[in-house]
Amino acid sequence: MKLAFFDAKPYDKPAFDRYAADAGIKIKYYETKLNEDTVELATGADAVCVFVNDTVNREVIDRLYELGVKTVALRCAGFNNVDIKHAAGKIRVVRVPAYSPYAVAEHAIALLLTSIRRIHKAYIRTRDFNFSLNGMTGFDLHGKTVGVIGTGRIGRVFIDICLGFGMKVLAYDKFPAEGLDNGDTVRYVSTEELFAKSDIISLHCPLTEETYHIINEQSLSACKRGVVLINTSRGALVDAEALLSAIKARQVGAACLDVYEEESDLFFEDNSGHILEDDTLARLISMPNVIVSSHQAFLTEEALSNIAETTVENLLALESSGSSENEVLPKG
Ligand code: NAI
Repeated sequence: MKLAFFDAKPYDKPAFDRYAADAGIKIKYYETKLNEDTVELATGADAVCVFVNDTVNREVIDRLYELGVKTVALRCAGFNNVDIKHAAGKIRVVRVPAYSPYAVAEHAIALLLTSIRRIHKAYIRTRDFNFSLNGMTGFDLHGKTVGVIGTGRIGRVFIDICLGFGMKVLAYDKFPAEGLDNGDTVRYVSTEELFAKSDIISLHCPLTEETYHIINEQSLSACKRGVVLINTSRGALVDAEALLSAIKARQVGAACLDVYEEESDLFFEDNSGHILEDDTLARLISMPNVIVSSHQAFLTEEALSNIAETTVENLLALESSGSSENEVLPKG
């Protein structure tokens, strides 16, 4: 099988090379993203492998179909960049529904600890032989209350880690998990109670119409003054303008952001030589109490290995049995 691999980054290759070689899949890596202008690169391929910012719209699907490409293998969970309805009957679409909940939950904790213990400041200070502690006072996590919105795979790992720190958990989920609420250290509550009582809030729900801007001017004003917000889920869960205003007003004490609503043209690329056009992001990054990482929560050896393994399994399953449990089908 020949696989055209788009938006390839150096960190993608080792795991894919390993699993593909065993499966007899020949990969051609392209740094460019898949879109209307680059689709011809898929000529001769049986399948294409794409990531979150590749474009798989009607035009691309039609051209892939004409070129004889049979499968679009997403190496991520989300598929909002693929016109699934249009692909039906022409090209099969598979994805990787989960790769490592630990990677994302641990990154959320890494951001939190970095922020509240000022590790990002300490790193810069001591490199300059500045050993002063002024302005470095943090706070203990032990005994604090953390609000967790979304108690799925990642949310539950995050909760386990928080319990290890001796924190109390207030959880909210549209579909609460059975057996998680113990009436003591973990309790399911309404969003109102969660916002009102949490010292820290971490988002682990998907982006849907219901959760779009779940963190907005109103919810931020309902939070405890000085709340710490962590978002490792999807940028559009947070109204970034409202967050910026709440930080300026000292309502939000710190923000840890791995995702950003308008990230798609910026994140994953080196823009250090460019003028940043997005004033909200630039202002957020300039704040001493905001930490931004560029959608890297998933980026561990284990997750990359799981992504490659599942993608190769998806392709082999379609080839050998004509079906894959990770196929994305149109709704209805
Ligand atoms: P999951 O599907 O296991 O859990 C999601 C949870 O959110 C479920 O319990 C679900 O019931 C809940 N939920 C659904 N609608 C809700 C609503 N309206 N309000 C509150 N809760 C709601 O997903 P998983 O694997 O835990 O991933 C969570 C999110 O993490 C993903 O949706 C994705 O956006 C993000 N993610 C981020 C990555 C990164 O690199 N930063 C990597 C992987 C995932």
